[in-house]
Parts: sequence; C-alpha cells; structure tokens
Amino acid sequence: MYTNDKTGIKEYQASSGRYENMTYKRCGKSGVLLPAISLGLWHNFGFVDQMHTARDILRSAFDLGITHFDLANNYGPPYGSAEENFGTLLKKDFQPYRDELFIATKAGYDMWPGPYGNLGSRKYLMASIDQSLKRMGLDYVDIFYHHRPDPDTPLEETMIALSDIVRQGKALYIGISNYEPQETARAKALLQELKVPFIIHQARYSIFDREVEQGLLETLEREGLGCIAFSPLAQGMLTDKYLKGIPEDSRVAKNFTYLDKEKLNRHITRIQNLAEMAHQRGQKLSQMAIAWLLHQPQVTSVLIGASSSDQLKENIKALEQLQFSEEELHRIDEISQ
Ligand SMILES: NC(=O)c1ccc[n+]([C@@H]2O[C@H](COP(=O)([O-])OP(=O)(O)OC[C@H]3O[C@@H](n4cnc5c(N)ncnc54)[C@H](OP(=O)(O)O)[C@@H]3O)[C@@H](O)[C@H]2O)c1
Repeated sequence: MYTNDKTGIKEYQASSGRYENMTYKRCGKSGVLLPAISLGLWHNFGFVDQMHTARDILRSAFDLGITHFDLANNYGPPYGSAEENFGTLLKKDFQPYRDELFIATKAGYDMWPGPYGNLGSRKYLMASIDQSLKRMGLDYVDIFYHHRPDPDTPLEETMIALSDIVRQGKALYIGISNYEPQETARAKALLQELKVPFIIHQARYSIFDREVEQGLLETLEREGLGCIAFSPLAQGMLTDKYLKGIPEDSRVAKNFTYLDKEKLNRHITRIQNLAEMAHQRGQKLSQMAIAWLLHQPQVTSVLIGASSSDQLKENIKALEQLQFSEEELHRIDEISQ
C-alpha cells in the first residue's frame, strides 16, 4: 500500500512477500498449481455488501499468496453483482497482476428469465461466458465451470459448448461442479476426446459434509482431476463463531437459506466438541477444519469464504499446523457422525 502524492489516495501495491508462506498444489495431472487456500466470492461481494470490505478482503488475500478467486454468474446479490464488483476492484488494484491470478467463473443455475438462462444448454453457456467476461472486464477466465449437472441436456452438448469456449480463447481450462462420480468420468472421456484441458471438480466437502468420500474422490484420483472443496467451514459452523451464541452479523442471524438456527442447533454439540479439540491442538476450529481437508490427499485447494479480512487472516494460519495423529483423525470422525 502507498499514498499517491497527487491524489492523497491510498493505492494498492501487492506485498513483496506474498509468495513466501502459501503452499501451491498441483491440480490433478495438469500443469496448474493452485494455492492450498482459495477465496470464493459467493457472499460478501454483491451490491448489497460494502465495497471497502470487499476490497480489503481481496487485497489481504493476494498479499497472503491467494492467487485463485472463484466466482459464478449468479453470485451477489443481485445476480451478476459479485462479478461486476470484482471487475471494478480488479481494474483498480490488480490490473498489473493479471498474469499472477487464476480467476474462475461458472454457469449452471438460474441467471436470467426464460428458457435460455439456466442449466446446461449450449445457448445458455455461450451467452453466460460472454456476460461474465463483460461484467469482470476480462478477455478470458482461467477456469470456466459447468456449475451443476443438467439431467435433460445431453452431456455431449454441454461438453462441446465448454470445449468451444476454450477454443474461442474465453477460458483456459474447464471445470465441473456438483457432478456425481459416473457423470464426472463421462465428462472426462468426452473432453479428452475433444482435446481440451479439463482439470478440476468443485465439490462440497467439510468435516460435516462427507458425500464426496462415497466414490467421487476415488474417481477424481483415477481420472487425474483436481478437487477444490467448497463450503469447507460448513458456512461458518466450523469456526469459533457460534460458540457463545449467534452474532448479529452472522449468516445464521441473517437466516440465510442454506444455514439457519435449526441447522446450527442440530450441530452445536459437535461444534463445541470439535472446537475443544482444535483448541487443544493450539488452533481455532476454522484452522483445524481447513487443515483436516488439506490432509486429504485428493484435495488440491480449500475454497473458503470470508466476511472480513480478519477472518481470512485467521483461516490462513491453518497452514501452520497441518499434521494430525491417527487418534485425532479418529476422534474427528467420531464427533462428526
Ligand atoms: N460450486 C458450488 O455449487 C458452490 C456452492 C457454494 C459455495 N461455492 C464456492 O465456495 C466458496 C466458499 O463457500 P462458503 O462461503 O460457503 O464457505 P465457508 O468457508 O464454509 O463459509 C464462509 C463463511 O464462514 C464464516 N467464517 C469464515 N471464516 C471465519 C472465521 N475465521 N471466524 C468466524 N466465521 C468465519 C463467514 O460467515 P459470516 O458471514 O457469518 O461471517 C464466511 O462468510 C463460495 O464463495 C463459492 O466460491 C461453490
């Protein structure tokens, strides 16, 4: 950070030590290295949020070696606003660093009205990538994801559209998200035939959400694909946040669709027991939850969200203690059942 002599405005200059403490992991069998911790912009970056907080989070992230930022066409609210705000901040702060950044976006959920603004048709994906690039002011994204499987569109149509997006130079790599193991293997076979780089699967994975362990992780390993784990903190439940009640500024207090008081109450004893264990290890619960994911060999990167740069800074410290004894791993399984 430095102060511009002419305007008096504090301008951003990335920390010269930004690559000193982050670990970078190979994404499947590709040439890409991703930071062990990546930042998602699902929440806290929309028009309803504070731009100065969003800016502070992004600057802190890059200063800490986070090079990978994850967006989607519908992140906000309103839809599209996270990409637009990201584009504004990118232009102001990160333009000189574009080649140091790995930026992802997605399409697959409802985005605009009518029959062409949702799911997995070629029509939707082609229009959506153009809209995303325009909102972010980018020539290309590093990863373009199909956000969720579409049971009614032939997989071939979706995969050919993704492949064409790469050939048009609008994305460098392809990813998929929320696909089952079998569909993932089929997508891999199709994209391999089309000779486009498909490198990553984005899946929900945390101490509380283990579905990927029912075959997906094995498939990803076999197919040479990376795994980026989303909602690794179970949207804040796997942090120290709710140990003393429900803070006003939390997702639970806002009665967010995917995390409410009822869900929190169902998990609270587990949260307390896991937090006690984390504290015995000299960690916050968020740090242990991230370390636990990085301990899984198939996980390339842990995709966190943060509503402040302090949360981000706290979470990054997970990298200082990644080891677990067999006993600890067993205890985590026991508590989280
Ligand atoms: N592909 C998909 O379908 C899909 C779906 C969901 C998410 N994602 C991606 O994954 C990213 C992360 O998802 P997520 O936001 O659910 O992740 P998360 O890391 O599980 O939850 C993030 C939230 O936890 C709370 N938190 C984080 N660190 C904290 C700390 N140290 N102390 C206290 N509270 C803390 C904050 O909530 P408060 O607001 O309460 O402070 C923060 O916004 C998204 O941004 C998106 O990029 C993808």
